[in-house]
Amino acid sequence: MTYESAKKLLEDWGQSHLLKYYNELDETEKQSLLDQIEGTDFSLLDNLKEENRFSAQRGKIEPLGAVTVDDIARNSESYRSTGVDAIRSGKVAAVLLAGGQGTRLGFDKPKGMFNIGVNRELFIFQCLINNLMKVVEETGSYIPLCIMTSEKNNEDTVNFFREKDFFGYNSDYVSFFIQDMAPSVDFNGKILMESKSRISSSPNGNGGWFSSLVRSGLMDKLKAQGVEWLNVFAVDNVLQQIADPMFIGAVIESGCESGSKCVAKADPYERVGAMCLEDGMPSIVEYYELTDEMANQRLDNGELAYKFGVILNYLFRLDRLVEINSSRMPVHIVEKKIPHIDENGCQVSPEKPNGFKFETLILDMIHMNRSCLPYEIVRNREFAPVKNPTGVDSVVSARALLTENGVEL
Ligand code: UTP
Repeated sequence: MTYESAKKLLEDWGQSHLLKYYNELDETEKQSLLDQIEGTDFSLLDNLKEENRFSAQRGKIEPLGAVTVDDIARNSESYRSTGVDAIRSGKVAAVLLAGGQGTRLGFDKPKGMFNIGVNRELFIFQCLINNLMKVVEETGSYIPLCIMTSEKNNEDTVNFFREKDFFGYNSDYVSFFIQDMAPSVDFNGKILMESKSRISSSPNGNGGWFSSLVRSGLMDKLKAQGVEWLNVFAVDNVLQQIADPMFIGAVIESGCESGSKCVAKADPYERVGAMCLEDGMPSIVEYYELTDEMANQRLDNGELAYKFGVILNYLFRLDRLVEINSSRMPVHIVEKKIPHIDENGCQVSPEKPNGFKFETLILDMIHMNRSCLPYEIVRNREFAPVKNPTGVDSVVSARALLTENGVEL
């Protein structure tokens, strides 16, 4: 993009200030700024207009049951055999979401590079690969694994996997793709600058994975290989069961378009989104959206009505995702503290939120499917998220759970 065309584009979007320091930059910085402007999705700014704002207004929320641990035990043979068949015929691929910034953990590398071991090295990425290897051993088939990184952590992530020889996974089956970025704006909708030559931007939320997968060309590749199902999961659950044959089998046998692994909530107020129906379609209601009455509502059998919390492990049918067209996904506008330079070019590290980021969320994809099978897992076997250094969902709690499951630390 030339300076002239960037200037015109920015005028159209009311963002001319991004070129304020252009003449002070060296040639490399000038080019880098023009490349960034070219790569920025300015149409995201339209989401700030009152009439386009994503409405938090929800439809009619009702409970949605799950296939429970007991149901699964009763049907295990059939689920397993259906799932194993699907994997052996190359119909399943896995997508690891590792584009997040892991701010709560406070680790300055990609979260997957965190060493959760105590007496030996055991990295989060390694835990995930070890878990996936169990399925490879069971089925005799490698599962294509697509790893989503961000501009900020791609190089570190790719180098780490290479350095560690993919933790024993067959690297022919591993691909990386980079998540799209979204600009950050101040409360007046003006894009912030990180420095005189860099626009402030961040990964566009965990719902950005599908459009980024398509743009990378990997989606076409998977389709051409005959992949029909994508198991999408978060980086931070070290007990994560990936491409779990029973889960895949249960979803296929149910005829649902998607599936979601769930845990029975530890208490009515546990801070996890719960599976529900919204206007008759599958959906997820966030813990902060539940009224006291809903949180404590009981079914006739005495169970909590909104009992099944999601753990960010979903199964999606590829053809349905294509139909859904992720460009229609709601864009959430989130208030954040965004470091930037002020009008005098001085660095500012705000202590309270000073602007907005744009994020799409994977949980919105569930509502875009016509059906979803909630699938209950045994919490202590499969759910050990590493979000914080200590306390709930932390390095400490995950280590205890790994030990409980016989993993040597
Ligand atoms: P979280 O919502 O927990 O965010 O991500 P995070 O960035 O890992 O951690 P905090 O909130 O800053 O502490 C859930 C999953 O979604 C991925 C994360 O890598 C994690 O696997 N994610 C999140 C992305 O891939 N991209 C994003 O833009 C955001």
